[in-house]
Formats: sequence, structure tokens, C-alpha cells
Amino acid sequence: MEPGQLIRVEWRGKPVWVVKRTEQTLDALAAHNDKLRDPASDEPQQPDYAHNEHRSIKPEIFVAVGICTHLGCSPSYLPDSFGEQVQGVTSGFFCPCHGSKFDMAGRVFQGVPAPLNLVIPPYQYLSDTTILVGADGKEA
Ligand code: FES
Repeated sequence: MEPGQLIRVEWRGKPVWVVKRTEQTLDALAAHNDKLRDPASDEPQQPDYAHNEHRSIKPEIFVAVGICTHLGCSPSYLPDSFGEQVQGVTSGFFCPCHGSKFDMAGRVFQGVPAPLNLVIPPYQYLSDTTILVGADGKEA
């Protein structure tokens, strides 16, 4: 994948995004924690292995269910123009249905209708470049 690229796959009829985040994007995540509803991802919207500051197994690869936690629209990826939505934040996801906004770790901004961060599905790496979504080898 190219830096900044997003690819969509389908899992159980839902869109799943895989995004390659740049070093710059990762560094910027901590800068707007004060604008987020659940910056530390305390709500159980991710598996344990994605309960970290970047909400992923490998920092640069973000995997998330691309469905807004408000009423289920699929947000748009704004790699360069998210600053029009949240000043000072270059990239993120914007839900056109009712205006919810999420950062590059799928964390929801305050003051929008979506109550929760985006869901991180179970997933695992089969190799350095292959991800299996839907199973993480931790099921009983
Ligand atoms: S469904 Fe996304 S803001 Fe309402």
C-alpha cells in the first residue's frame, strides 16, 4: 500500500477499511486528544490488541469497520481536507449523514451525534503483507 492509501474490503456485509498511515499522521494523533470523546478508547470498541494509542496491531496500518457509530452511514475518508471539519487536523473521516467526525485512529470528535469510536474488527497478520479480518486466533 502507498502512504495515505485506503482500501475497502467487505466483512460480514460491512465495509472494512485498511489505511496506511504515515509517520506524520501517527505523530499527529496525540495532538488533538482534548477534542475527542474517548481519546484513550476506554469503551470496548476494539479488541485488546488494538487498545493502544493508534488502535491497531501495527502502528501504521489502521483496520476499522467503516460504519458510523451514529446511525450506520459510511463516513468519507478525507486524507487532505479534514481541516475544513476540524481545524488543525489534516486528515480524518467525515460522515455526511449528520456530520460526525473521526480521526485517523477512528476516534470520534466531541460535539457530533456519533457516541462511540469506530469499531475495530478482530484481525490478524498471516504474513507481513496479508491481513485476515474476522478471526484473530483468540476465539475459544
Ligand atoms: S450516521 Fe453518521 S452522523 Fe449520523
